[in-house]
Amino acid sequence: MPDAAPPASADAALSSLRRLRTAEGAVAVRRATELLASGTDVLPGVARLRAEVGAELAGPAWELARLRARARPAFGADADRLLLTADTLEQAGRPVLAARRAARLLASATGPVADLGCAAGTDTVALAKAGADVVAVDRDPVALALTAANAEALGVAGRVQVLAADVVDLVAAAAGGRVAGCPAAVLDPARRAGGRRQLDPDRWSPPWSTVTALLGAVPRSVVKVAPGLDHGRVPAGVEAEWVSEGGSIVEALLWGADVAATWRRASLVRGDAVLELSADVDPGRAPLGPVGPWLHEPDPAVIRSGLVALVAADLGATLIDPTIAYLTSGAEAVPPWARSYRVDDVLPFNLKKLRALLRSRGVGRVTVKKRGSPIEPEALARQLRGPGERSAVVVVTRMAGAPTVLVCDLSP
Ligand SMILES: C[S@@+](CC[C@H](N)C(=O)[O-])C[C@H]1O[C@@H](n2cnc3c(N)ncnc32)[C@H](O)[C@@H]1O
Repeated sequence: MPDAAPPASADAALSSLRRLRTAEGAVAVRRATELLASGTDVLPGVARLRAEVGAELAGPAWELARLRARARPAFGADADRLLLTADTLEQAGRPVLAARRAARLLASATGPVADLGCAAGTDTVALAKAGADVVAVDRDPVALALTAANAEALGVAGRVQVLAADVVDLVAAAAGGRVAGCPAAVLDPARRAGGRRQLDPDRWSPPWSTVTALLGAVPRSVVKVAPGLDHGRVPAGVEAEWVSEGGSIVEALLWGADVAATWRRASLVRGDAVLELSADVDPGRAPLGPVGPWLHEPDPAVIRSGLVALVAADLGATLIDPTIAYLTSGAEAVPPWARSYRVDDVLPFNLKKLRALLRSRGVGRVTVKKRGSPIEPEALARQLRGPGERSAVVVVTRMAGAPTVLVCDLSP
């Protein structure tokens, strides 16, 4: 479904947000929400809204209803009280993770917290709900208007002050462990520009130099960073944490020296519980060994945080290649830190031979996994499909540097 066009400028965005906050605006958004929920398409939907609530409100109301629907899985019922723009929703973290960060930041001391780059206010609201007074900073007037409105809508306006400022300047002026007058801070740099991910931390906004300056000047701070951040960039005394849920990384964090409790941490969110694995010093690389009856794939938070050696030691497992995070041992791993596959065959990577082997085993359906290989899993799975009744997991990887395939979990 095509999106309703976003407002062309900050002024236009601010005036449409103001309109949406009136009683007529609320009626228009409710009506747009009903139309969307009943499956009405954008063109007839906006046309009907125009007839019912007027041309000025129809487009913005439709857009907000659409954004709230998109926000609902992460924000729950709160989504229907939020003001959002497409840009701020795309940049928003998940409230449950923001609440976890806020609780940890506030556990060690009290006092106001600066939310440096507040967007639509997810961190601001989480910090305020956790009991902090918050100075919510952004250089974007739309972000400040959204944060103020959302703090009010979620009942924490009394704890929130918005501040139009450049975070680069505020952090450069930080002194005595404080930034913007606060002894604690959350920084969540924008890591996308023009709809694309910025892989180079020096191109984030604010840039990496502001991240390190904040961690140096305000030791009670936490910075959200890209999951692919190079360990070499993590300043000494700072804890780096990777958080995963359902087998995917959901965030990576740098904790300033006053909050840091370890060197690296892998955290696994499971419903309301969070399981944690940590190391006070670099555990180094796990030992190498030949492929055994079981292959183990550590959780991505374990891999990113550099803690594979801890899981290997726990499982009595070894690496199959010095550069690949697959482990092997004689027994299946106990969840949650690694997922295990029973190894049935190991062969050098050769499409013809692999296909022939799968045919001879009666395998018709495969799931392809890869690590350290350029192959495209879905494309290879299609190429390997056959008439057989059995299924298998085909792992394409490297062993001692050589492209290798492990056929695993052959069904009976
Ligand atoms: C990734 S978003 C923050 C998202 C927010 N933590 C949340 O979960 O909703 C980054 C925000 O930083 C703001 N920003 C980027 N560079 C800035 C700067 N130099 N000064 C002030 N704000 C900045 C952007 O306008 C944007 O609102």
